[in-house]
Formats: sequence, C-alpha cells, structure tokens
Amino acid sequence: MINKNYCVIGYPIKHSLSPRIHNREFKKRGIAARYRAVEVRPENLAAFMKSYKENFDGGNVTIPHKEKVMRFLDWISPEVRAIGAVNTIVNRSGKLEGYNTDVIGAMTALKSAVKIIKDKRAVVLGAGGAARAVIYGLRKAGTKVLILNRTVETAKKLAVEFGCEYGVLEDFDATNCDILINTTSVGMWPKSTETPLPNLKESLRAMKKKPVVMDVIYRPKVTRFLKDAKACGCKIIIGEKMFLSQAAASFRLFS
Ligand code: ATR
Repeated sequence: MINKNYCVIGYPIKHSLSPRIHNREFKKRGIAARYRAVEVRPENLAAFMKSYKENFDGGNVTIPHKEKVMRFLDWISPEVRAIGAVNTIVNRSGKLEGYNTDVIGAMTALKSAVKIIKDKRAVVLGAGGAARAVIYGLRKAGTKVLILNRTVETAKKLAVEFGCEYGVLEDFDATNCDILINTTSVGMWPKSTETPLPNLKESLRAMKKKPVVMDVIYRPKVTRFLKDAKACGCKIIIGEKMFLSQAAASFRLFS
C-alpha cells in the first residue's frame, strides 16, 4: 500500500523527468511511495499550496513556481534565502521546509570534471534563476565569476549581489576562462540549433588550454553549445548530469 506521496509542480510539467527518476528510486529501495507530476497554473498556486500539507510528504518545484512558492513554506534553508528560489519541499511533521538542490546538483556535476574549483575563473552565461543557483555555488567554492548576459543591467545586479564581474555575451573571451557554463535557455528543444555564443568555435580554436564547458539545458542531451565546445577539444558536462545530481540530493532529503 502506498503511504507516502510526492509530486513535482510546474507549468508546463508534461515533459518532466522527475517522476520516472524518483519512482524508480523508491521501487529500488522498497519504499511504498508514489511521485507524480502535477500541473499547477500560476493563478492556482496559492489554492494548491493550501492543501499541500494534507496531500503530500514533499516534492519538487519547477518553473514558474520556484520563487513564488517560498511564501507558502514554514521554513527555508539559508541557500534558498541567498538564491531566492526553492526546488525541493519536505513536509516534516506538518511543517513545510524549502530547499534548493540545484546548487549541489551543479557543483557535483562540475566537480566530476574539475577537481579543484577554488580560484578558477568561471564565465557564466545568463543571469536568470538558473544562473543564481550556479553562481551561488561557484562563489561559495571560491571561484572567480564573470557573468555575461544579453541584458547587461540584469548581469550587473547579480554581479553586485554575489561579488562578480559582468558584461554582455559578445564580451566572451576564451583566454580568461577555465570553466564556461550556459544557464540561458538558448539552445533548448525545439530550438536546438541555437547557441548563446555563435562564435564559440572561433574563440576556442586558438586556445591551448581549453575550458571545461557545461550546459544546464538537458533537452537535447547534447546542445549545440556543447557540440561546438567538444569539436574544439573541450571537456563537456551535459545538463542531464546536473539534473540527476539535483534529483539525488532531493531524494536524500525525502528519505
Ligand atoms: P531560468 O529560471 O531558467 O534561468 P529566466 O530567469 O527566464 O529562466 O532566465 C533566462 C536567461 O536566459 C536570462 O539570462 C535571459 O537573458 P535576459 O536577461 O537578457 O532576458 C537568457 N535568454 C533567454 N533568451 C535569450 C536569447 N534569445 N538570447 C540571449 N539570452 C537569452
């Protein structure tokens, strides 16, 4: 008999990989729990969260609710406070706790390819929600960060908040880059031929020491951005690795 219920909420939510990953893990461990995807429209979030405690033991939160869901929780972690976004909820004896496992997901994925992160120079493309988690993790690990974004004002705001440098995407220069991470949505399915850095190959070709290149996008598995980097001899980290690492971290919080 199922005695625990989990969910991922978002809008849209049909394509979420989370139910498959978590249900497989529950089954493997013999835990009588069910995890499902629930489509919650933005205008229905407040009503949905009212009965969350009665209906769910916890779960995940995705776009567009990661920020707005905070006000319905009883406690948020220090990381959530710094990032301003929740991706995991745990119902602990009737109190809803909010966590952010995107940070640990990104850093675990990165550490699989870069052994020492401290003092490395990272370039982060984008300044949205995904960027905030990645930049928080990098800064905490002692990495120098340059934020490049289409809209420079947004990059500046983040740079001031997290102690980084900033610029626009066109400023990219491979000379000063050990780690390159795309957090923009450019290149996401179905626009899989797009890339946030159309001149990446030209910039990288001349370099002797190539950066490690990561993408947070996991559909397609290997984005055009990563393909370009790989063609130039860079070590790449696919977005699925980050996704699976954040799922594993959420799972540890559930059990
Ligand atoms: P998420 O929560 O997934 O990070 P978001 O907060 O909407 O989503 O952020 C999307 C990021 O992708 C932003 O950095 C955005 O740049 P702007 O701040 O200029 O909007 C970036 N982005 C989206 N579409 C883009 C495009 N066509 N070209 C360049 N950057 C783009």
